[in-house]
Amino acid sequence: MAEAQRIGVLTGGGDAPGLNPAIKGLVYRASELGIEVLGLYDGWRSMLDPLTEPLLLDRGKVRRWDRDGGTNLGSSRTNPFRTVSEEGVRVDRSPEVVANIEKLGLDAIVACGGEDTLGVAARLSERGVSVVGIPKTIDKDLAGTDYTLGFDTALRNVTEVIERSRTPAGSHGWVQVIEVMGRHAGHLALWSGVAGQADLILIPEHPFRYEKIYHHLKDRLGDTIGYPRDSERPRYSVIVVAEGAYAEDGELITVDDRHDAFGHARLGGIGEVLARRIMSETPYEARSAMLGHPQRGGTPSPTDRIMGLMFGSFAADAVANGDFGKLVSARGVAPACDLSLVSISSVLGQINTVDVDRYYDTERYHLKGIGM
Ligand code: F6P
Repeated sequence: MAEAQRIGVLTGGGDAPGLNPAIKGLVYRASELGIEVLGLYDGWRSMLDPLTEPLLLDRGKVRRWDRDGGTNLGSSRTNPFRTVSEEGVRVDRSPEVVANIEKLGLDAIVACGGEDTLGVAARLSERGVSVVGIPKTIDKDLAGTDYTLGFDTALRNVTEVIERSRTPAGSHGWVQVIEVMGRHAGHLALWSGVAGQADLILIPEHPFRYEKIYHHLKDRLGDTIGYPRDSERPRYSVIVVAEGAYAEDGELITVDDRHDAFGHARLGGIGEVLARRIMSETPYEARSAMLGHPQRGGTPSPTDRIMGLMFGSFAADAVANGDFGKLVSARGVAPACDLSLVSISSVLGQINTVDVDRYYDTERYHLKGIGM
């Protein structure tokens, strides 16, 4: 295999803190290995015609990127294998991507993303494109790795909101429902709920029962909230619900009927449904907050910076070694972390969800072993 001299890096799917540190790690290590790195804008979209001029990334350019949240290269949910023309016809534009990779003289692409972005990478790899993947998603639902960039920062962000929600909920005496992202995986909801000490945590991996929630609320709050009150009892409750959670007798709630280029609907709305049900079926007041995209916002946490730098640097080595079609994978999280490469195609088509038997108390709707 010819030694790679020039590579492109792109970030696809939802943005996540940790991507810019990963790019810095890649560029720094690549510069030591004599590899030139071009930044490709807006995920796979930049590789479609008309070709967007890439950004030459050198050490000076990315020196401060470790502190930046989001992605300085921009992102999109473009699927070149499934675009829609102006006439509404589905078109496979992947040949344009392959041609443009050649046109830019790229020996390899480093794709930072989750299941979708890496799925494109794997299919391009089958067409002879040299790719290396870096795992990223606040959902932490990618198989084959213990860590995906963005998770730790999102955990921090959500935990802070849970914490801040206590004062209004306590002052007014209501049940605060907080809806957290994560698609069909409950990692973000579960661990932020534990860190923020929510009373109940509802995750997609275990459909919940409304009656059980009401029962827990009664246990905690008594028959009413407000004055006069029993000073021993809390005046409020916080429930964290994952956007992908659903009731045993209910269904997934989506924002609307639209689907993205990878066939995903936008999940969202279960928090409001739950708050309304609590208000109509119990004596308690309830409010819901859908945290939305700011969960992914802000500067990367120390863990996301470290993991990003390590992932990026490891990807540069993979390129130098001609280890293509592979994803950088972490066993453990820094500082107790080992990196290796796994085949991208081996991690696709399965999602990493919460191990309910190990972590989730299906009676208490909480972390096993931590009674609230
Ligand atoms: O995959 C990351 C994520 O933030 C999910 O948790 C969420 O369901 C989805 O992206 C939101 O999609 P979008 O950023 O396209 O609104």
